[in-house]
Amino acid sequence: MQVIIVPNKEEMGKRAAALIAEQMRAKPQFVLGLATGSTPLPLYQELIRMNKAGELDFSTAITFNLDEYVGLPPTHDQSYRCFMNVNLFDHININKAATHVPDGMAPDPDVSCEAYECMIEDIGGIDCQVLGIGSNGHIAFNEPGSSLASRTRVVKLTKSTIKDNSRFFARTEDVPTRAISMGIGTVLEAEGIVLLAYGANKADAVAKALEGPVTVSVPASALQLHPRVHWIIAEDAASKLRLEWER
Ligand code: PGA
Repeated sequence: MQVIIVPNKEEMGKRAAALIAEQMRAKPQFVLGLATGSTPLPLYQELIRMNKAGELDFSTAITFNLDEYVGLPPTHDQSYRCFMNVNLFDHININKAATHVPDGMAPDPDVSCEAYECMIEDIGGIDCQVLGIGSNGHIAFNEPGSSLASRTRVVKLTKSTIKDNSRFFARTEDVPTRAISMGIGTVLEAEGIVLLAYGANKADAVAKALEGPVTVSVPASALQLHPRVHWIIAEDAASKLRLEWER
């Protein structure tokens, strides 16, 4: 586990992009696990810049997103498919057919979750998984109480996550209450993981996940069990850490 504390979210994005770019250049058909939310945006902006500058090629890359709301079609402006197109895929030379986001409209979501797991396995697994962390310590939509061995499945969102995400919807009642999410067990199978965090509202979750016990109460604490995790944390989100980490 490597913890890197950086001054701000711009630096967080640049450090993460540099790390991912180095790995991508070393492996054609790189399988990148992606996340949504405000956290990865500085990373995506830097990846777009690198791609436009000819420094990083996405033409053979394959991506898998962590999660999607149940009941939102890909065309809905708050769907995670739409988010990925607008914030990354539309601006880089990636083959859209090689970008995967769970299907929130699948007629049988359970079958679709199993198929998603199979696709990841068939391709040989995820080389690098990008993660944010929720203010309640969740990773993807694995809310507190999720089994550390969980797989891709339909999950119910907690009140705190619905409240956090209501800022993107006209009314809190419009926020979907269920999502399809890769499980913690799925995430832990990635070859490498890059967890990003910025903002004072993440400081408690980051401290508990990094320096507290491994517990289902803090899903991100499960990352302590993974041998190759880079935590790239902006100062404000690192403010409650007690141990001496790299700066
Ligand atoms: P955020 O969400 O990036 O919008 O803060 C992170 C998360 O919930 O994983």
